[in-house]
Amino acid sequence: MTGVKEESFFNDLDLSLEEAWELLSEGATNRHSPLHTPAVGTVTSSGTPSQRIMVLRAVDRDNRRLRFNSDHRASKVADIDHGAAISVLGYHPGAKLQLRLSGIGSVQTTGPEADAAWQQASLYGQRCYLADPAPGSPVKAPTSGLDPGIEGQKPTPEQVAPARAHFAILLVEVQKIEWLYLAHGGHRRAIFYWNAAASRWDGRWLVP
Ligand SMILES: Cc1cc2nc3c(=O)[nH]c(=O)nc-3n(C[C@H](O)[C@H](O)[C@H](O)COP(=O)(O)O)c2cc1C
Repeated sequence: MTGVKEESFFNDLDLSLEEAWELLSEGATNRHSPLHTPAVGTVTSSGTPSQRIMVLRAVDRDNRRLRFNSDHRASKVADIDHGAAISVLGYHPGAKLQLRLSGIGSVQTTGPEADAAWQQASLYGQRCYLADPAPGSPVKAPTSGLDPGIEGQKPTPEQVAPARAHFAILLVEVQKIEWLYLAHGGHRRAIFYWNAAASRWDGRWLVP
């Protein structure tokens, strides 16, 4: 839970938005937070919704941006290449808050931010990006996709270096936040749209 008290935020739009961003920021830094692993939704080239759990790596509130890591050969990256619509969904039972975000997705494989994210990843984390063939490829037998020689031991920096070529960061520019607070006395629901012309969030209450 954040420092904002339940009784003060849940009838106040500004404090509700504040609470949402605080919980998201905590989700990026605290691996025990339920918002550390939200569901990220994309739309496939055939128009089908597709969701998966991803680790929320960073939250940049000033720029309304969330960062995730991905293999750039993954199907979610292809989805973003076809159309950038993306959603992020999480529920924090302690705070009794569901957050449903949507915005524009983009992928970077090179550049300072991708390089920094790669450096922050552990050797085990970096090893995931060695998979060969690419993630999602059909195979005849069960496999991790890794060379057996690199399984079951801590990889060395030299061993994981080739994986950098497959690593990408997936960025979400948040444009809409839907907030649902569950309370015995009566739920609350609010929606916030980013107003680019005025550089501010415009919020309003909805019936839950
Ligand atoms: C707890 C958990 C955390 C995960 N974190 C990530 C992640 O940070 N990045 C990622 O690409 N996949 C992550 N995955 C795997 C994805 O859910 C998904 O299976 C994989 O990325 C392939 O998705 P795609 O084919 O839709 O691209 C995670 C799965 C679980 C269960």
